[in-house]
Amino acid sequence: MMEPQDNIEEDDTAASAPPPRSLPRQRVSLQKSSVCSRSYFMVVMVFFHVYIINVIALLLYVHYNNDTGASNPQTPADSGFPRNMHLPRIEGIRVGHVQKVSLVPGKVHEMKTLSLKPLLFEIPEFLSEEECGVVVHLAKLKGLMESQVMVPEGQEELNQQLNLSPEEIFNFLDLNQDGQLQPHEVLRDGIWLTSENLKEIYDGLKVDQDGNGLLNLEEFRHLKSDAFQRFLLQRGVERSQLVRNSRHTWLYQGQGAHQVLQDLRKRVTHLTRLPSSLVELSEPLQIVRYEQGGHYHAHHDSGPVYPETACTHTRLAANTTSPFQTSCRYITVLFYLNNVEEGGETTFPVADNRTYEEVSLIQNDVDLLDTRKHCDKGNLRVKPIKGTAVFWYNYLSDGRGWVGEQDEYSLHGGCVVTRGTKWVANNWINVDPDYQRQARYQQDKQPEIYAIVKDNATVPNVDI
Ligand code: OGA
Ligand code: CA
Ligand code: FE2
Repeated sequence: MMEPQDNIEEDDTAASAPPPRSLPRQRVSLQKSSVCSRSYFMVVMVFFHVYIINVIALLLYVHYNNDTGASNPQTPADSGFPRNMHLPRIEGIRVGHVQKVSLVPGKVHEMKTLSLKPLLFEIPEFLSEEECGVVVHLAKLKGLMESQVMVPEGQEELNQQLNLSPEEIFNFLDLNQDGQLQPHEVLRDGIWLTSENLKEIYDGLKVDQDGNGLLNLEEFRHLKSDAFQRFLLQRGVERSQLVRNSRHTWLYQGQGAHQVLQDLRKRVTHLTRLPSSLVELSEPLQIVRYEQGGHYHAHHDSGPVYPETACTHTRLAANTTSPFQTSCRYITVLFYLNNVEEGGETTFPVADNRTYEEVSLIQNDVDLLDTRKHCDKGNLRVKPIKGTAVFWYNYLSDGRGWVGEQDEYSLHGGCVVTRGTKWVANNWINVDPDYQRQARYQQDKQPEIYAIVKDNATVPNVDI
């Protein structure tokens, strides 16, 4: 700190008397050094302050974010359950990685990573031949129903209940927000329309005034929302034109159920490493049968979850009246119950894609969602082999041991069965992304187990 002072003094002296010939260089250098040092000091101080301010801002940001993450806007803090349940997630390591897993006594299974987006695994011989036979037999005894009725009803009623304006409906349908309704944005749940089908309908209803095969808001206003349905009814729809062409039934797996079904559920618990009560409170086993020509166009087993979305399984416990609902299927475990003669693969059209964009699923007349026509163009297909199980996560982790956002890459479908019949079963593990809602639901369903957990908040990773 002394040095600048000395320089200033020398500088002053130099200015008052004419400098000797040999001095200018020295004088200039002295003056320079003085200015430099002062400004250097200033610059350092400014940087130091900016640095401190940045650090404070960062700390505040982290603090604020943690706060908003921890307190759920929908649940008052005082009704909070201690967050002592952690959902393990199996590591995929890399595509093709095989890990040995112990699921039943005296047998080691191999679990192969098929993709990381979604996190997807395949386990051959998950069920024995006999077990597959028993499950199919039980499903036949119970009887299967059509998975999709020919024309979905109630859409008009729903619109009336929600009291939505044509603009609101239009905005809701217009996924890419380009002001036009593309074929896949219309009637996505129900009848599967190719661009040609849609053009034919628009012509029949005389709605596409500019004839570009798309509907803009003006054109949409002239169309009553059930006009499609009526038109299709009059014209007749074939089963192959539905989103899903299969039959299914549900089998209860709890106490008293056939031993094979109970064993299967235990095995799924071991496989997923999830708390057994969570698996036990999930949906029953769904058995699906596709005839020759059957298919299931690409879909997500469970939708995105926004703050106002209710989960079907926790809806009653959550006491909500939200019109938005999804099944909150954290994991899908799919079992192949027979060998299909030809076709019937499970397709994951965008598995491990670099990006996911809804609009690029349909390009140049190739609709990747169409499992009747374009299964061969998707990224990944799993061949159905009797006894094999595949399982994947439909949601990402929230980074804190719970369910996070929907994993859009989990898009999948059943390719058309070109020869023979296909039998599969689905075990869906339901978890509410809202921890508090899931905890309340489990307390309602299993109060005796939950009482222990609530009293003992320090128990780590409790199997509630
Ligand atoms: C399902 C499903 C795929 C298949 O039932 O939800 O996606 O291969 N099935 O049948
Ligand atoms: Ca659009
Ligand atoms: Fe599915």
